[in-house]
Amino acid sequence: MKAVEIKKGIYWVGAKDWNLREFHGYTTSRGSTYNAYLIVDDKITLIDGVKEPFTEELIARIASVVDPEKIDVVVCNHVEMDHSGALPAVMAKAKNAIMYCPAAAERELKMHYDTTGWNMRVVKTGDTLNTGKHTLSFVQMPMVHWPDSMMTYVADEKILFSNDAFGQHYACDGLFDDADPDIIFDEAKKYYGNIVWPYGAQVQKVLEEAAKLDIAMIAPSHGVIWQNHIPQIVEKYRLWSSYGHAADKAVVIYDSMWGSTEQMAREVASAWSEKGLKVTLCCLKHNNVSDAINAIVEAKYVALGSPTLNSGILPTMGAFLTYLKGLAPKNKVGFCFGSYGWKKDAQSEMQDILTKLGWSLPEPIMTLNWRPTKEGLSLVRQAAEKIV
Ligand code: FEO
Repeated sequence: MKAVEIKKGIYWVGAKDWNLREFHGYTTSRGSTYNAYLIVDDKITLIDGVKEPFTEELIARIASVVDPEKIDVVVCNHVEMDHSGALPAVMAKAKNAIMYCPAAAERELKMHYDTTGWNMRVVKTGDTLNTGKHTLSFVQMPMVHWPDSMMTYVADEKILFSNDAFGQHYACDGLFDDADPDIIFDEAKKYYGNIVWPYGAQVQKVLEEAAKLDIAMIAPSHGVIWQNHIPQIVEKYRLWSSYGHAADKAVVIYDSMWGSTEQMAREVASAWSEKGLKVTLCCLKHNNVSDAINAIVEAKYVALGSPTLNSGILPTMGAFLTYLKGLAPKNKVGFCFGSYGWKKDAQSEMQDILTKLGWSLPEPIMTLNWRPTKEGLSLVRQAAEKIV
């Protein structure tokens, strides 16, 4: 396990978690990486760590360049355990190291680990640290993704160590964004939608700060390092953080008991497709909520379908709506539909949730009793067509 030099004297010393398939409810079908970086300068500096089970790998990669006991500086950009899990072992080895982190990170680290004996210095936006040839500048980015989150910028090398921002849960051979652009941008979108979406205003502040910097490399804590597509990923972050969308994208998310709501879902999808929209049909029986979220990040139109089960929504749709409420996306045009036997509770409950999210709901709920008739499906189609 060796370090990989990404710039002269600056190394990737992280870990690739090829087998990761779940990250707090998020399906990670392409695994992930925990990117940590080592700057070999007068002061040996480690930026971030890895998830605890990969501690030995981190230490081995560091040891391929320098003795880990000689680390002078540890920068903790974020306390979530996929980055801080290895830090107790690092601090135990590097007994003279000073850890630099924001005040919130110091508090959180003390609540997660036994930090007895750790030498910690609190930093804030605008603070700098000279390590010899390089000067690190710290930029706090609270809530991207936790209150403690921070970026670290190395001006002379034009590298932004952006932690969770600009990340993707994606393991691949190589470290840079010369992988398939369709995959890396899709994984970046999925990551944004599932991890960062609630914090659009905070991301906009990050983008304001980043715009002041001369950046040739964005080195996040997950996935590939951006150097070929920096303007494109920054532009995507502008779009996603402002709750913008592609006007021609639509998603129909649904589940069905005996196929009636599925017929309605297909009718909505077909109507929208024939109106020229690019439609994704997503059945929650077969797709995880995190994939459904990925599908709606850039969509303008989102239809939700569930039949009434007892007095409520099907559990798959209930779980999706719980997840959606937490992520609180804005600026969508919604449409709720579904079949029922004797109560229309599911559809009005879905409509209430979308109303609370502030979505535009130009058409009332569309319900069909028991099995859809040809006439009933025609009404579904008319309502869907009116929305666009
Ligand atoms: Fe990759 Fe918020 O941790």
